[in-house]
Amino acid sequence: MENHLQQPVFSSDGFAALDAYLKELTPSKTFLLVDSNTSACIPEFVSQLTQLDPEYEVLEVEPGEDSKSIEVASGLWSVLLEYGADRNSLLINLGGGMVLDLGGFVASTFKRGIPFINVPTSLLAMVDASVGGKTGINIDGLKNQVGTFTHAALVLVEPSFLDSLPEEDWHSGHGEMIKHALLSGRNWPDILGLNREDLTVEMLQESIQAKVDVVAADFKELGLRKTLNLGHTFGHAWESFHLAAEAHITHGAAVIQGLHLALSLSNLSDVQQALQARYPWTTVASEYYEALWMLMQSDKKNEGGTVKFVLLEQIGRATWGHEISKSKCFEALDELNARG
Ligand code: GLY
Repeated sequence: MENHLQQPVFSSDGFAALDAYLKELTPSKTFLLVDSNTSACIPEFVSQLTQLDPEYEVLEVEPGEDSKSIEVASGLWSVLLEYGADRNSLLINLGGGMVLDLGGFVASTFKRGIPFINVPTSLLAMVDASVGGKTGINIDGLKNQVGTFTHAALVLVEPSFLDSLPEEDWHSGHGEMIKHALLSGRNWPDILGLNREDLTVEMLQESIQAKVDVVAADFKELGLRKTLNLGHTFGHAWESFHLAAEAHITHGAAVIQGLHLALSLSNLSDVQQALQARYPWTTVASEYYEALWMLMQSDKKNEGGTVKFVLLEQIGRATWGHEISKSKCFEALDELNARG
């Protein structure tokens, strides 16, 4: 299987590109991976294609992060075998980040790799998981511990799938778009102030392009790609903290909280205040600081008594590997709580 970064294709051009790909590949068998939410997108997706094998098989998994498991992956490998899938079979992943990560992992390992197509149905998956070639599953409650770096053969972005996206999932994707705008400097502050009804295909393209540019420069995350973790050091800890308390939070909302801290540590208080006006900082009780610090430290990239952050020199210029001490981090949390 070739492993090249592809430019995502959009809407009708995207369906035409997928048709052309299907015509050229003539897969021996085509599989559509969905979860029980995104299966509703199948009729619209299929109706746009003229070259899709009408005998395609639908593989459906439960929605949610729990499906990113070795058991579910193993079940999918078995089903592929039962249906006689071979190296020339194709897997089309139609769904959010979980479906894309899981499907990419299953495809990139089945018979040492069969081609797969990503068709993201959520804003978060469009601007993040659909591109960049990270596939994976979770092990022992830790995210993405086993996986591959394998690009999708094609990424098709159909914005009309967003029409039925729940409001909080839209804001979750918006959080990652804000991160991309901070990293690239493109369309800031328009992206910050963006309302759902004003999202254009061009804005989506720009946001995805910000990630594509970074991945093109550093596919295996040896350096520059680490900047895509802006806001994620605290964001992941905040997300895990909520998970442990069985409290609901979206990934994007946790990233926004992490962006507040990263901007504060970057001494960009004007930018942090602009973010505050759109998505306010959530006060963090000081009794939870230690627990959050432990969660930040559990990231294997961190050593000793410090945690590494991605910081911004200015909008459009991020640097990585900044060791922040516990006292400095707690000071920044205090400041954010006081300013909030
Ligand atoms: N989501 C961060 C990355 O793909 O590197």
